[in-house]
Amino acid sequence: MSITEALALEVSNNPYFKPFLDHIKLQIDKLWSLVDELTELKKCLEPLDYKDESLIYLISRIDRMIREKFINSSHPINVKKPSKIDRICIKCDIFKLTQTIGYLVENAIQHSPKNTEIRIIFRVGKKFLNIYVIDRGEGIPLENMEKIFNPFFTTKVGHRGFGLKFAKTIIISHNGNISIYNNAKREGCTAKIVLPLMKTDIYHET
Ligand SMILES: Nc1ncnc2c1ncn2[C@@H]1O[C@H](COP(=O)(O)OP(=O)(O)OP(=O)(O)O)[C@@H](O)[C@H]1O
Ligand SMILES: [Mg+2]
Repeated sequence: MSITEALALEVSNNPYFKPFLDHIKLQIDKLWSLVDELTELKKCLEPLDYKDESLIYLISRIDRMIREKFINSSHPINVKKPSKIDRICIKCDIFKLTQTIGYLVENAIQHSPKNTEIRIIFRVGKKFLNIYVIDRGEGIPLENMEKIFNPFFTTKVGHRGFGLKFAKTIIISHNGNISIYNNAKREGCTAKIVLPLMKTDIYHET
């Protein structure tokens, strides 16, 4: 039993103490969530575990993460694979990369109306793999564009503003690049990740 629970039992009949107990509980919950997030942020500073992975395997891991993590989401999340992915390889920390896509999808869900589609599109170029996470949400006000990758920048109550900082750290460590821009023709925004491919001469989409 925690100290707060013991205290609550002790003084639960006295309404005078209720606001104090509620306050203590709230502060403890906040501390726990801060500890969780700092633990998460620390993970992104740990050395990455690079391996040569096939694009087929990377996409299958992302597919699985989406099915598991967003199973209760009211947003349809559709993954569009490149038409030919055989023999395309990428040197990456597959766990961290998958986690990064998870953060982008999480943002897309949080900033777009229920039931609107979220698309994850993979495109293979000559030297690079492009991954797009596209939503149909509110988009990002221009004045926030410069700040969204800063740690602790958030426009949501109860959030810490770590997701995009994490994503950027991971992608830069892969010698890649990440950008976010508002969609030109429709509402919402697109997070674009560019990652170097290992094989350059096999196949590319037009
Ligand atoms: N898809 C999106 N649509 C609109 N705004 C977005 C989108 N993605 C990010 N943002 C903006 O960028 C800010 C920073 O995003 P980031 O993921 O770093 O932090 P967060 O989502 O606020 O908090 P956390 O990820 O720690 O829960 C968000 O608060 C939001 O204002
Ligand atoms: Mg986020």
